[in-house]
Amino acid sequence: MTDTTTVVLDTIMSRKSVRNYTGEPVTKACLLALLKAGMAAPSARNRQPLAFVAVTERNILNALGEGLPFTKMLFKAGACIVVCGDSSVELQAGATDLWHQDAAAATENILLAAEAMRLGAVWSALFPMSEREDHVRKLLKLPAGVDPFSIIPVGHPAGGDLPKDKFKGEKIHWEVW
Ligand SMILES: Cc1cc2nc3c(=O)[nH]c(=O)nc-3n(C[C@H](O)[C@H](O)[C@H](O)COP(=O)(O)O)c2cc1C
Repeated sequence: MTDTTTVVLDTIMSRKSVRNYTGEPVTKACLLALLKAGMAAPSARNRQPLAFVAVTERNILNALGEGLPFTKMLFKAGACIVVCGDSSVELQAGATDLWHQDAAAATENILLAAEAMRLGAVWSALFPMSEREDHVRKLLKLPAGVDPFSIIPVGHPAGGDLPKDKFKGEKIHWEVW
């Protein structure tokens, strides 16, 4: 294994949901690096039907957190990224039902990039809970046809969030079940 392979695998294995932040801001340069990682994710038929909203303003972060019961860490996060599907991007037959999978891949890429940058982040679901989607849609003024998928609070880790060992050999079936 090369040094790069080791670093990539270490990043994957050390990624964890970080919900405790110091409250320090996250710079736009860092957010741009995270957004580039999100856009580098695989995309069905390479249609790239996603759009992203990056939020750094404290009042918007707080207002988002107020309406999202499982995303209260926004109150201490330095920023957040909302991963959205944009239906104005023309999708080919067969790809229309796949944008959520694109959005999931982009969300995970952002989490991994955050881990590599020693930032803390957590995947928080918006889709398919319509109340959460509507709260975000309204606050962020999303245009018609743009649907929020996930919201990712990002911050400087305050400590205490640790990776979990999820490996279970018995879940693996070689060749056939
Ligand atoms: C689809 C999805 C939705 C999630 N939604 C939330 C959420 O709303 N709030 C939250 O705190 N964590 C959320 N999580 C994070 C999970 O709770 C977390 O990934 C899980 O507990 C495993 O911990 P780990 O990420 O540290 O490995 C979500 C994760 C996924 C994949």
